Amino acid sequence: MFRWARLSIVCLTFLGGNALAQDYLSALNELGRTATAAELSAWDIDVRPDFLGLPPGSGSVAQGEALWLDQCASCHGDFGDSNEVFSPIVLGNITEDDVRTGRVAALTDPSVVRTTFMKVATLSTIWDYINRAMPWNAPKSLAADEVYSLVAYLLNLAYIVDDDFVLSDENMEDVQALMPNRNGMTEDHGLWSVNGVPDVVGSACITNCSVDTTITSFLPDYAMNAHGNLRDQMRHYGPLPGVQTAPTPQLSVSQPAQSDSLDQIPADLLAVSGCEACHQVNKALVGPGFTAIRARYAGADASAYLAKKIRQGGQGVWGSVPMPAMNQLDDTVVEALALWLASGK
Ligand code: HEC
Ligand code: HEC
Repeated sequence: MFRWARLSIVCLTFLGGNALAQDYLSALNELGRTATAAELSAWDIDVRPDFLGLPPGSGSVAQGEALWLDQCASCHGDFGDSNEVFSPIVLGNITEDDVRTGRVAALTDPSVVRTTFMKVATLSTIWDYINRAMPWNAPKSLAADEVYSLVAYLLNLAYIVDDDFVLSDENMEDVQALMPNRNGMTEDHGLWSVNGVPDVVGSACITNCSVDTTITSFLPDYAMNAHGNLRDQMRHYGPLPGVQTAPTPQLSVSQPAQSDSLDQIPADLLAVSGCEACHQVNKALVGPGFTAIRARYAGADASAYLAKKIRQGGQGVWGSVPMPAMNQLDDTVVEALALWLASGK
């Protein structure tokens, strides 16, 4: 990168663009700098299974309960047992035997709902996760003592510690020794070694597989857009476009079939549908210009064909560059776009 930049500057200077080269150089100097110690420590927050990275602090079950009711229960339920936003954190089939062996037996039963405390082997993971990611709508807003108290409360709900327990950096290791599934994470199994046999049984479905698309958990409305519109943070095309978490913009698709509206370019619709990444109206970009498409299909009653092409994508009509399937779009949107594209005169 640096060499390339130097080379370009030499070229620019050579061409008499000395001032330009200077601008270029100063712009480059602003590109990237050494991270400050404060920035590094803001990122370097991971807590390892051996508790390296764990900040000093402490918090009681009672303090945790108050915080939980205030900041967590709306999504996870008063007792961490709600299945509405995310699968339950506590509640579940943990037995005294499990706590003794360090292996939750019910995990082998596919019909049992798996909770966080049934699965997680390392207490550090729970501490780290809450510290970096919760509450979902305000991540990294908790102080270390608050995280200790929340973890203490969850441990109490899971019957791992008593009501008067105070968790701290000094006794995390003792509690780790009580985690019900602490022996659940092991290197002593099939897929870890090259010669191992798979430790899962299952028959993979290859064709006509039935996919259960029932959505069993969802975020409450107030938290939907907490991290900005996910749609804008992902590519606009492809099989997994970001979910629209901001309120859907008003689109003018209510009367798509009326011919007087078809003379206007549906600019909003093109923008939110992600077409603009590859198409412009009047000139070719990655794909052909929309004016050229409209001219090509003028008078041909091609709206059904074009709708299909938008949904499924395709290749070879305009060149070798493929158009991806835009199958995340609503039918009304696809049909409105296809009608407009087919209405050239
Ligand atoms: C606005 C809803 C919401 C609030 C409030 C919230 N959570 Fe969560 N929580 C979630 C969602 C959603 C997930 C799953 C996130 C994911 O997998 O990306 C989650 C996951 C978790 C998990 C991990 C569970 C697992 O098995 O992976 C823990 C632990 C947790 N939350 C604790 C808390 C604590 C403690 C608070 C309060 C400080 C809190 N949450 C507040 C929505 C919320
Ligand atoms: C990732 C780039 C990309 C995106 C995003 C994209 N297109 Fe395309 N589109 C193309 C390419 C490339 C072609 C040419 C395909 C071909 O030659 O068959 C094309 C062709 C088309 C055609 C002409 C089809 C034909 O058979 O003549 C239509 C209509 C079209 N696109 C509509 C859309 C609409 C509407 C959107 C937004 C919903 C969209 N495209 C998004 C790349 C894209």
